[in-house]
Amino acid sequence: MNILDIISKTKHKIPLEKSEIGFLVENYTGGKIPDYQMSAWLMAVCLNSLTDDETTELTLAMRDSGQILDLSRINGITADKHSTGGVGDKTSLIIAPAVASCGVYVPKMSGRGLGHTGGTIDKLESIEGYRTEMPLDEFISIVNKTGFSIISQNENLCPADKKIYALRNSTGTVDSIPLICSSIMSKKLAVSADCILLDVKYGSGAFMKTKEDAERLAELMQNTGINAGKKCRCDVTDMNSPLGMNIGNALEVKEAIEILQGKNKGDLYKLCIDLSADMLSLAGQDNCREKVQNAIDSGKALEVFRETLMLHGGNYKICDNVSMLPQAKYSYEVKSDRTGTISEINSEEIGMTSLILGAGRITKNQPVDPSAGIILNCKKGNKIQKGDLLMTLYSSKITDFSEAERRALNSMKIM
Ligand code: URA
Repeated sequence: MNILDIISKTKHKIPLEKSEIGFLVENYTGGKIPDYQMSAWLMAVCLNSLTDDETTELTLAMRDSGQILDLSRINGITADKHSTGGVGDKTSLIIAPAVASCGVYVPKMSGRGLGHTGGTIDKLESIEGYRTEMPLDEFISIVNKTGFSIISQNENLCPADKKIYALRNSTGTVDSIPLICSSIMSKKLAVSADCILLDVKYGSGAFMKTKEDAERLAELMQNTGINAGKKCRCDVTDMNSPLGMNIGNALEVKEAIEILQGKNKGDLYKLCIDLSADMLSLAGQDNCREKVQNAIDSGKALEVFRETLMLHGGNYKICDNVSMLPQAKYSYEVKSDRTGTISEINSEEIGMTSLILGAGRITKNQPVDPSAGIILNCKKGNKIQKGDLLMTLYSSKITDFSEAERRALNSMKIM
C-alpha cells in the first residue's frame, strides 16, 4: 500500500478500501505522509467526492486517531448537539440546560469562533470566572450533578482532524461535503454521546450556501452517525438572517438568559424548542415539545443553567442581572437612510461587522472583545422610516465606527 496508489484511485473515482483509508489517516497524522501528498488527495476528494462508505470509514479512522471519551460514568442517556456554525447562534446555551432539565444528560465540547461565525466557548468565556477547561472527571461530575456541562474541545480528541483541517484551510479544500462530514462527525463520535442532533445551516452566513447542499451534508452526517451506532438526526435550518437580535459574545449570553427567563419568544426561542424536542425524542422521550416548553417557561432550565455556571466558577448572578456581563465602552447607532421594507439582513455581512467591532477573530489565537457586537433593532420584513434605528454597534476597542457602519448598512436591503 502506498500514498501514490491512494491518490490515483481517488483521482480516477475508484473507491478506497477501509485499510487504505486507515493507512492514509494514520500515516498523515503520524507525519509519514507529507502535506503535499495529503493535499493532492484532499483536492482529488474535492473534485471527485467520496462514496458514503468511504466517508464513514474516513470518519471512523479520524475518530480513532485520538482519545474517545468514556461517558459510562454518566448516570443516564447522553445527547450532544452540533450546529454547523452561524451568526448569532447561541442555541447551545439554551438547548443544553433545557434538555438537561428534562432528564437527558448533555456533555458538550465546543469550539471557538473563527472569521464571521461565533463560537460557544468565546460566549461562555465572556462570563466572568467561567472555566472552559477542566479535568475530565470534573466535567463528568458536573454533568451528573446538573445535567449538562460545556467545556472546550479536548486537545487529545481527533488529532487527525486538527492536522487535516489546518491543511484544508491553507489549500482551498474546505468546501467538500464528505470532508466536512468526516471532520465534524469524527469529533462528535469521539465525544461519544448516545444521541447526536445535528443542525446544518444554509444561507449567507453558513458553510453551505444552498439548501440542497445543506440537505446533502445533513443526510451524509446522519447516515455516518447511524453507521457508527449512534442515534442521530439532522435538521436543516436557515442562516440567511442572523439568529435572534444579539450578535457578539456577552450580548449573546444576555439574549440566551432572556430566553431562559421566559422574556423572549421570537425566532430563536422557537428554534430552540424544535431542536431541544428533537434531542429529547432521539433520547426516547415522548411529548417532547411540551416538556421542553415547560422547562423553559417554568424557569427550570434557567435554574440548571445557574447551577452549571456556579460549578464552572462563573458569575451565576448574571442569571438575575444581565447587566453584570461585560459592557462595551463605546456604542454607535446605525440609522436608516431611506424608507421601505427590509427584504434582507445578510448574516455574513453582520458577522463581518461584528468581527470589525472586535467580537470575532481572523486568526486562530487572536483574543476577542467579550463586550463587542451588535443589537439589531429590526427583522426581515419590518417596515421602516428614514432615520429609524436599524441596529446599535458596541465595542470597547474602536472609537471610529465608520467601517463597521458601512458593513452594517451593506448587510441590509431596504426596498
Ligand atoms: N467545521 C468543522 O469542524 N469541520 C469542517 O470541515 C467544517 C466546519
